[in-house]
Amino acid sequence: MSNTQESRSLDEIKLNAFIGQILSDLGGASSVALVRMGDALGLYKILHSKGAMTSAELARAAKVDERYLREWLSHQAASGYLSYEPETARFSLPPEQAMVFAEEDSPVYMMGGFDLMAALLDNQDKVLASFRSGTGVAWGDQAGCMFCAVARFFRPGYHNSLVSAWLPALDGVAKKLEAGARVADVGCGHGWSTVLMAKAFPNSQFIGYDFHAGFIDEARAHAKAHGVSANARFEVGLAKDYPARDLDLVTCFDCLHDMGDPVGAAAHIRQSLKQEGTWMIVEPMAGDALQDNLNPVGRLYYAGSTMICLPTSRSQEVGAALGAQAGEARLREVVQARGFSSVRRATETPFNMILEARP
Ligand SMILES: C[S@@+](CC[C@H](N)C(=O)[O-])C[C@H]1O[C@@H](n2cnc3c(N)ncnc32)[C@H](O)[C@@H]1O
Repeated sequence: MSNTQESRSLDEIKLNAFIGQILSDLGGASSVALVRMGDALGLYKILHSKGAMTSAELARAAKVDERYLREWLSHQAASGYLSYEPETARFSLPPEQAMVFAEEDSPVYMMGGFDLMAALLDNQDKVLASFRSGTGVAWGDQAGCMFCAVARFFRPGYHNSLVSAWLPALDGVAKKLEAGARVADVGCGHGWSTVLMAKAFPNSQFIGYDFHAGFIDEARAHAKAHGVSANARFEVGLAKDYPARDLDLVTCFDCLHDMGDPVGAAAHIRQSLKQEGTWMIVEPMAGDALQDNLNPVGRLYYAGSTMICLPTSRSQEVGAALGAQAGEARLREVVQARGFSSVRRATETPFNMILEARP
């Protein structure tokens, strides 16, 4: 086919729409560095607490160079992240944007997402090599601050939903926790989930396990900082062979799909639970078929899965590589393969599904 014929068959409207999408995608990608600098310099928080400011006023308050800041502010206004008022030359952070950029406890605080995007780029060379070799990248070898980015990304969801909605959605679990239960948080990472539960249920004993020693140090520090060291402790442990027994509840937050042998983990979790115990599995929200996940949330999760979850699973024994978008049907197969007779979706958010498995 000649070039002329090709161009005749092109739909210009579709082409322009696609160029528009790519411009917007590139704009988002370019924002990763700028948003993270705004966070590091405290610019969003100052604008949030002090209201509209000129570049000179904000530069004084943040103790930064006014010329650099003016360029940054212009980018943020062009991105729709800040509002700009030409009459006064003042920039402000609208309340909706403040929930995303400045309020750490808001359910839609997304700064961790920007950290995560930076970490994906840092990981590029290692994952590129994995594509060629089929091998994995262990958590301990992941580039940059992958760990803090993951913890920061998931924290707002846990902070706003875990104690108030997810645990109460499980059959009889909140009551047991109030009275005094034995709980293991497996694959606990930095231990945010463990600390939140330990704070809310002081009569219960919590132990967080993770196979990455660096996380366990961080988790112990968090427990100390939040005053829950008496009922929350942390140990290095694999999901397949941690030592705790007679547990009332085992929790796995966004980690089952990262494991090399999730079926082996399910078997061990079953053995560690009392007969009437519960396994709470929090996994990324996903439909069962690829076409169900071709949406903005699925797009981000497939990126994270390619760059973090698959390489983590492949670096371990078995290397099942479930992927972050495994979907409920596939997760049921994994959980029910080894001793759990019932699995139900207890509740969900746009980002997570919460499954309850019973022996
Ligand atoms: C995405 S992070 C989630 C961490 C934490 N649960 C959270 O929600 O912030 C996955 C975690 O699973 C841990 N992990 C992966 N495979 C594991 C295994 N086989 N045994 C124990 N921990 C594992 C990783 O070290 C990491 O902390």
